[in-house]
Amino acid sequence: MPISVEDVQTLSAASDLELAMFRPAHVEARVARALEKGTVADIVELGSVLRHDPGARTEFRRSIAISVTGFFRDADQFELLAEHTDHLRYKERPRVWSAGCSTGAELWTLAVLLDRLGAAGRAQLLGSDILDENIRRARAGLDEGELAGHVLPEDAKPWFEVRDIVTQGPPGGGWDIVLCRNMAIYLEPNARQRLHGMLAESLAPGGLLLLGRSERLSDPRALGMEFVAPHLYRRAGTA
Ligand SMILES: C[S@@+](CC[C@H](N)C(=O)[O-])C[C@H]1O[C@@H](n2cnc3c(N)ncnc32)[C@H](O)[C@@H]1O
Repeated sequence: MPISVEDVQTLSAASDLELAMFRPAHVEARVARALEKGTVADIVELGSVLRHDPGARTEFRRSIAISVTGFFRDADQFELLAEHTDHLRYKERPRVWSAGCSTGAELWTLAVLLDRLGAAGRAQLLGSDILDENIRRARAGLDEGELAGHVLPEDAKPWFEVRDIVTQGPPGGGWDIVLCRNMAIYLEPNARQRLHGMLAESLAPGGLLLLGRSERLSDPRALGMEFVAPHLYRRAGTA
């Protein structure tokens, strides 16, 4: 069900989410799903409900910004990362950023990796997500059941913040590791391209960018990035 530019603007304002950055097919499918429930007649009415009903707004936002995550999700990606991060053992203050962190498990996984290098306690650990409800849950910490036997480093001090990375940009630069996994797949190509450019720029020289297992940089060299392994890139320069 194609929706017009005006409809996208109406629903963006009502949901406080910049829907134009997402793939049109993704937005259309989610809007169609919302309309199929039969509680609203059309997009104008849907907009009105989203403006006035916080519960409906949260549900709609969550349906757009898919938040599936997990501790050590795609564990082989973290094994790969571990093969390229030994130098952080010697760094005074490693800086790692989980961009699109959902409810925080990804940042905690990075904390465990840094703990193996003896660096979790002195690292800057930042997680950002567009959904404030995800950030609230992330700040509350992981449930015991999510840990699958792993022990979280007690001295790690993760920080979580609400940030729309596409429209607001990254939280400063100089990051040693940036993870941006399974978020850009929902973005339309221009927004994805812009995002990848900003992520590359946010890295310190020699810093690593890990994307999700179905994602890649379309032209790494143009962004000053080198291919390291599938889905893993390094910013040119010495760490
Ligand atoms: C599928 S989850 C992936 C979570 C985690 N990176 C992982 O792979 O386990 C995608 C996350 O990206 C967030 N997200 C989507 N668009 C965003 C944006 N523009 N800025 C920040 N976060 C965004 C969503 O809210 C969601 O939590």
